[in-house]
Amino acid sequence: MERFNTIIGKDILAAKGFLYSGEVVAIPTETVYGLAGNALNEDAVLKIFKVKDRPHFDPLIVHTFSKEQIKKYVEEIPEKAQILMNRFMPGPLTLLLKKKKVIPDLVTSGLDTVAIRVPNHPLTLQLLEQLDFPLAAPSANPFGYISPTTAQHVNNQLSGKIPYILDGDATTVGVESTIVGFENDQTIIYRLGGLAVEEIEKVIGKTEINISSGSNPKSPGMMNSHYAPKKEMMFGNIRSMIHKVALTLPENKIGVIAFDRFVEGIDKKNQIILSSASDLNEAAKNLFGAMRRLDDSEVDVIYAIEFPEEGLGRAINDRLRRASV
Ligand code: TXA
Ligand code: MG
Repeated sequence: MERFNTIIGKDILAAKGFLYSGEVVAIPTETVYGLAGNALNEDAVLKIFKVKDRPHFDPLIVHTFSKEQIKKYVEEIPEKAQILMNRFMPGPLTLLLKKKKVIPDLVTSGLDTVAIRVPNHPLTLQLLEQLDFPLAAPSANPFGYISPTTAQHVNNQLSGKIPYILDGDATTVGVESTIVGFENDQTIIYRLGGLAVEEIEKVIGKTEINISSGSNPKSPGMMNSHYAPKKEMMFGNIRSMIHKVALTLPENKIGVIAFDRFVEGIDKKNQIILSSASDLNEAAKNLFGAMRRLDDSEVDVIYAIEFPEEGLGRAINDRLRRASV
């Protein structure tokens, strides 16, 4: 694979230049950083899979400048999809819609739907506005690892593999977009994410959730083991478990990810509180950075406490569960 002298910067024209020459660059979004290439150029899309070491059967999300542009790439927009688009785009919402032929099969792994969204990040919106193609972009991490929420996270793993990282500071949502599909008249949530189920249900009513795990990537984003640190991770109602382990492992080898208060009896140095104000949005924003920090620390095992199963707490629990498989 070609080696690059990776540059980190805020220069939209530089990013644009690389994209026009068929290269892939990292871009910020409100959820996580993406690894972006021209979605209409198969060679660029192939590079995305290669840099990420991602299997070709796992389809990519296409990013457009506005919800109006989505029409150029999809055959039809169901009524409920239109309602969600009007309410939540730009934002952390990805829709699965029947694709037009201009979207290469490589992007959708041969599926007849394309995952499409409008990211809510000022730099990336400025960039998209200047392009005459949409951007295919999975999260900018090696396949299976934790998604990046800062330019530095991207650089830690992809330095040398891509020419440019567009630095848009730390992402504000912190977990990937919520993926919603439509079957007949039914709306189905396929991936819990940065847009809470409750918000979606407020505008279109009771919604089915199908985040069936398993290794069948046709149920989107739902590879069982994903978002995983290199260290062993345990998840659940584990305050009591931790204390049993604490008897066998030295204290400094145990890391903890907790919501709003420390677990007693464990060294606080290796505990990360995601939101002392008990705010699930703040916790989501801090989640992946905390996982990375503990992964890079001296601990041998990371314990994650279960979060309240509401709002973004559901997406947090989903990621922690997958990270601990
Ligand atoms: O927030 C996000 O969505 C971020 C930012 C960069 O936009 N992107 C992201 O992409 O999380 P990625 O590739 O890490 O996750 C996309 C998920 C994959 O699990 C894939 O299986 C699913 O979307 N997906 C993509 N196209 C699909 C399709 N046509 N049908 C079903 N699932 C699809
Ligand atoms: Mg990903």
